[in-house]
Amino acid sequence: MAVKRTLRSHTCGELTEKHLGQEVTLCGWVAKRRDHGGVIFVDLRDRHGLTQVVFDPAVAGGESAHESAGRLRNEFVFWCKGKVRRRPEGMTNAKLATGAIEVACTELEILSEAKTPPFAIEDGVDVAETVRLKYRYLDLRRPEMQKALVIRHKFVQAVRKYLDEQGFVDVETPILYKSTPEGARDFIVPSRLNPGTFYALPQSPQTLKQLLMVSGMDRYYQIARCFRDEDLRADRQPEFSQIDIEVSFLDMESFFPIIEGMVARIWKETLGVELKTPFPRMAFSEAMSRFGSDKPDVRFGLELTDLSDVFAQSSFKVFQAAFEKDALGRMGSVRAICVKGQAEKFSRKDLDDVTLTATRNGAKGLLWIKVQAGGEMQSPAAKFFTEDEKKALTAKLGLAQGDLVLIVADRNKVVFDALGTVRLDLGARLGLIPSLADGARKPAFLWITGFPLLEYAPADKRYYACHHPFTSPVPEQMEWLVKGEKLVEIQAAAYDLVANGTELGGGSMRIYRREVQSAMFRALGLTDEEANEKFGFFMEALQYGTPPHGGIAFGVDRLAATLAGVGPIRDVMAFPKTQKGHCMMSESPSTVSPAQLSEVGVQLSPGALKALEKAAEGRPIEAGPGEA
Ligand code: AMO
Ligand code: AMP
Repeated sequence: MAVKRTLRSHTCGELTEKHLGQEVTLCGWVAKRRDHGGVIFVDLRDRHGLTQVVFDPAVAGGESAHESAGRLRNEFVFWCKGKVRRRPEGMTNAKLATGAIEVACTELEILSEAKTPPFAIEDGVDVAETVRLKYRYLDLRRPEMQKALVIRHKFVQAVRKYLDEQGFVDVETPILYKSTPEGARDFIVPSRLNPGTFYALPQSPQTLKQLLMVSGMDRYYQIARCFRDEDLRADRQPEFSQIDIEVSFLDMESFFPIIEGMVARIWKETLGVELKTPFPRMAFSEAMSRFGSDKPDVRFGLELTDLSDVFAQSSFKVFQAAFEKDALGRMGSVRAICVKGQAEKFSRKDLDDVTLTATRNGAKGLLWIKVQAGGEMQSPAAKFFTEDEKKALTAKLGLAQGDLVLIVADRNKVVFDALGTVRLDLGARLGLIPSLADGARKPAFLWITGFPLLEYAPADKRYYACHHPFTSPVPEQMEWLVKGEKLVEIQAAAYDLVANGTELGGGSMRIYRREVQSAMFRALGLTDEEANEKFGFFMEALQYGTPPHGGIAFGVDRLAATLAGVGPIRDVMAFPKTQKGHCMMSESPSTVSPAQLSEVGVQLSPGALKALEKAAEGRPIEAGPGEA
């Protein structure tokens, strides 16, 4: 068999009028083949672009290449040799970098044939995502997917360069590790050498990067793989990457500019966009009361208004219930979003849909009021409103004919969750949210600070760390934690970086004194024994000279999605998983042999066996990988 000729002199995105008359060799895939009565045109594709190659028997020496070209089909891979020539008048394609030229081929070698692909290898294909994921290697052959991967590569390079310049050291940390406390479930791995024991895959390198500070590493970073067994969403995968950063001897004020510099560098080098720094800041409490979210999209209005004073004496039981105190003595509230002058745009069906958005986010209902001529209020609860309440409401919201008011009454957490999501729903319905492409070029960055340190969960009757248990209180409230006082009031020295309503990163200044860390574990309801079992090694380390330190981690996938102007992070990940955690391509997770199980000392429970049996009878069709 003849030696395959696999070398190319140029890529398919490279040739222009500068190359006219040159003899070149190209390799790639058949994107399109047209047989024009004797002359065969092929769009040859590689990741750099498309080049039109021509097989014309009238070209001297081109007969045999023309004959072979008759066998070419879509996605065949071939090598060809020919001369660059100008395309005939009227045949140029201004949209292509190579659109002014074509290559008249005298030699062709088919390097590999291809089955007909299950979908067209082109941008904007209309095909079920499950199919794209099953044939991910073909999906990734599409130009828009390749562009996303290149954007991701570019920005990670920019990050590495920048952090290196700033004196950061890239340190790798283990994947087979111990449970880390980011609040999701762990993925666990049985140990064959130590039967009955398990590693946990890190949810983040949190404890490890802090230990590197104890080691004196001073400025650490890593592009780290993280694993979290949690409910998946468009912006959540079980396995994802972080730009993980930790520094010593810096406070928040001196740390933020380093991070802002990194983000500015990312936008400059990836999109050529200059960002304005420093980024604005907003307190958590303000973000919640104005936008009902700790990651507000501040590019449009529809802000929340507190109506609790208007309805403080209301006879409507829905409102009364909201004012009842919870276990910690906290009252709920009645809050609203007012849509100015657009009430008639909302049919009963629209209102039902928006109500569904509210109830899916925990609200018991969504009360609507439409303001009619003369200030008349149309609402399912109109009969409960007194004249005084109507007047106060009108004054507070500046109501006029055509306004729509949407109200949720409940505990504050529910009110914010529900109205925060209703706000986004309304923003989308009214076309107020800029496109993803606009969001990439004009991102609205915002630091959120002033988070609470702890959150009380009435159902579990215990506190949880809002960020993670190594986050420090603000220095002036440190003593409250040590004494176990005013726990819900303590503010964390924590921060998130938000862009266009997405949390891109989050971090905090850390506890670095052992007694404060012990107090934190106590506040979280861990006994000394439990704390010791989980974090003994960490508590031990804190006793050998720990520098004050803090850090942050960014979601690489979320950053890439924002930069690429795409929605779900799956679209910027080479081999993502579906909402149920499946890899459609390799069909993992999958079963293992009884021998493998016994080697690691693991037995399947009756429940697991039953589930397997059921799956074998007729594997349930998986829901689409997008949002449910
Ligand atoms: P946190 O849990 O806030 O902090 O995570 C940091 C960032 O990681 C991204 N992220 C995810 N991306 C995709 N899929 C997921 N399942 C997922 N979970 C998180 C988000 C998020 O902002 N150790 C701390 C950081 C620190 O304190 O330094 C941590 O992991 O963009
Ligand atoms: P009901 O008293 O259940 O018939 O509810 C009357 C109206 O109040 C309906 O439009 C409900 O959607 C709405 N509603 C019920 N609970 C709440 C709540 N917690 N907050 C706001 N509106 C509510």
